[in-house]
Amino acid sequence: MEIIIERDKETGSKLAARIIASQIKKKPDSVLGLATGSTQLTLYKELIELHKTEELDFSSVISFNLDEYVGLSPEHKSSYHSYMWNNFFNHINIKNHRVHIPNGIAPDIEDHCKQYEGAIKAAGGIDLQLLGIGSDGHIGFNEPTSSLSSRTRIKTLTQKTIMDNSPLFKDNEEIPRHVITMGVGTIMESKTCLLLAFGKQKAEAVKLMVEGPISSDAPATILQMHQKAIIIIDEEAASSLKRADYYKWVYSNKPDWQKYS
Ligand code: GLP
Repeated sequence: MEIIIERDKETGSKLAARIIASQIKKKPDSVLGLATGSTQLTLYKELIELHKTEELDFSSVISFNLDEYVGLSPEHKSSYHSYMWNNFFNHINIKNHRVHIPNGIAPDIEDHCKQYEGAIKAAGGIDLQLLGIGSDGHIGFNEPTSSLSSRTRIKTLTQKTIMDNSPLFKDNEEIPRHVITMGVGTIMESKTCLLLAFGKQKAEAVKLMVEGPISSDAPATILQMHQKAIIIIDEEAASSLKRADYYKWVYSNKPDWQKYS
């Protein structure tokens, strides 16, 4: 795990955007795993900016989103489809047919999940998976006690996650209790994981993920076993880490050839 502690959400998101941009420049038809949540909004703004000012080209990029609420149609204003199109896809040149987001109203959810897994494989696997973290240590919507080898499937949200996610829901409507999410095993197969977490409310989850024992009690802890997990956090999210100074030391002593341009 590489732990990068940035001053704040803005500088952290800028760095994350640079990492994603260099992935796309290196491999224009990169397969990106994308995430939703309030954490990613600044990052998507940065990527839109890079598209506009530096012509970052998304035309060959293939994307797979992590998750979607069951029962919400893609057009629903609180669906993750709407989130992705409103906050990102409508502002870049990604091709509609290369975008994949689980369908919350698929008539046969089990079959849909199988096909989603198949589509990821057919695309050659995920090159870079963007992640946030829930305050209970979930990644995607893999809530505590999710199997650490799980695949894309339906999950039931915890009441805590329902409460945490309510600000992104419009008009005080009831939040669905079920979701479709890539599994922990699916996420672990991506070549690189890039996880962002900002703010005091993520400090405990970040501590568990980085320094806690690996356990399905906090599924993000499995990232300790990932071949290349980059964790970008701000000072507040880093505030409970025992070895924060060491992570800063490592990052500031990174050899030039290893630095993110
Ligand atoms: C949801 C998403 C997760 C995300 C989490 C954090 O649960 N399914 O992928 O990491 O929200 O959300 P936020 O960034 O709003 O704190």
